[in-house]
Amino acid sequence: MSKQYFDTLQVHAGRDRSTSNGPCATPIAQTSSFLFDSTDHAASLFNLSHPGHIYTRLSNPTTEVLEKRIAALEGAAAAVAVSSGQASQFLAIQNIASAGDNIVSATSLYGGTHNQFKISFARLGIEFRFAPNDNIGEFEAKIDNKTKAIFIETIGNSDFYIPEFEAFASLSKKYDIPLIVDNTFGAAGYLFRPIEYGTAVITHAATKWIGGHGTSIGGVVVDCGNFNWANGKFPQFTNPSESYHGLSFWDSFGANSPHGNIAFAVKARAEGLRDWGCTLSPFNSFLIQQGCETLSLRMDKILGNALELASWLEAHPKVESVNYPGLKNNLNHERAKKYLRNGFGGVLTFTLKAAEKGNGGLPAGKIPDFVHSLELLSHLVNVGDNKTLISHSASTTHAQLSEKELAAAGIGANMLRISLGIENIEDIKADIEQALRRV
Ligand SMILES: Cc1ncc(COP(=O)(O)O)c(C=O)c1O
Repeated sequence: MSKQYFDTLQVHAGRDRSTSNGPCATPIAQTSSFLFDSTDHAASLFNLSHPGHIYTRLSNPTTEVLEKRIAALEGAAAAVAVSSGQASQFLAIQNIASAGDNIVSATSLYGGTHNQFKISFARLGIEFRFAPNDNIGEFEAKIDNKTKAIFIETIGNSDFYIPEFEAFASLSKKYDIPLIVDNTFGAAGYLFRPIEYGTAVITHAATKWIGGHGTSIGGVVVDCGNFNWANGKFPQFTNPSESYHGLSFWDSFGANSPHGNIAFAVKARAEGLRDWGCTLSPFNSFLIQQGCETLSLRMDKILGNALELASWLEAHPKVESVNYPGLKNNLNHERAKKYLRNGFGGVLTFTLKAAEKGNGGLPAGKIPDFVHSLELLSHLVNVGDNKTLISHSASTTHAQLSEKELAAAGIGANMLRISLGIENIEDIKADIEQALRRV
């Protein structure tokens, strides 16, 4: 069949229609293990010469559908689902970097990712060198012969910085290192497709818009199938693997193999999932797939709501500032128009005016009262739910950051973050208005 549209792929990609009289919905293969036909069959699965399932820690038929679906939506070669967004970054990084190596990363990142990179990876001997997104020269200055990747987010959580993707693509090309993009805010390609800008690996928190219903933590690592892992910088792909009887991932699953270039995904699964065990449960795979089927429909509503709320807040007398790439005067607006399709993102931040004589602003320390007075919006830390969510970034998601890091990530003390849901926008506005009136 000819290449299908996003809306079709989000419902159909990866579906198994091979069995006669089979189920229409993806069955939940709630099993730890899979039966072998014979000892030869078992051996062929174990030595990766034959595709198939062994044990759910490594792969599972329900999860396989989700993996194929996300790969199709991103236009990529293969994907590996994992237990969370954090696990997707972990699996991607450990696949290519060892103690002594480094990664150059943007500063504009989800707080949990920043923490994982700065603190936890450092403990494993993998150094993250941070550079501001708008300074490609600083990124370049931090690259050396131990640098194994450049890492950026599509729309930084939560300063919404949208990188100059061509500049990052040419930098990664110049040094022959992969560009890794966390495309969580790009909604699996509905807003942004990293593969079109020279990205080699994509990570996702499927917990957010892909799943969309706030029910399941999950993640996906996507192998774009376009990077030469045999360029001499990644011996773990070309050297014989000790744990697979000397198999070379590049020879068996690289660009010249019958499978095409899926070496990154195969290694991430065969060594990474096997040894680290950050596996997505089949039930969560099922729920995330259910969410994925309506991704574009939910996104259209969310994106419309976000733009309308941003404009409304911008005109509100009690609001100091609004950060949303969809607003014309926003720092990221031109890049948002250039790179994003269908809208400008599902999340915004705004800062309430601090009280000064007669300006009707918020008296000091009243942020908690405002949040508490909201009746429809849910106060919690998440984004990408069908319900509209609000959080105070400085005391929650980004609490680990120093003052300097908070400033670099554009997070002020009385800034609030809203992740738009699919409710009627008038009800969302009315709730914010009544809460502002009460404080
Ligand atoms: C951009 C981004 N990446 C990764 C993550 C981590 O995802 P998870 O919470 O599923 O581990 C988040 C979580 O908010 C996120 O916003």
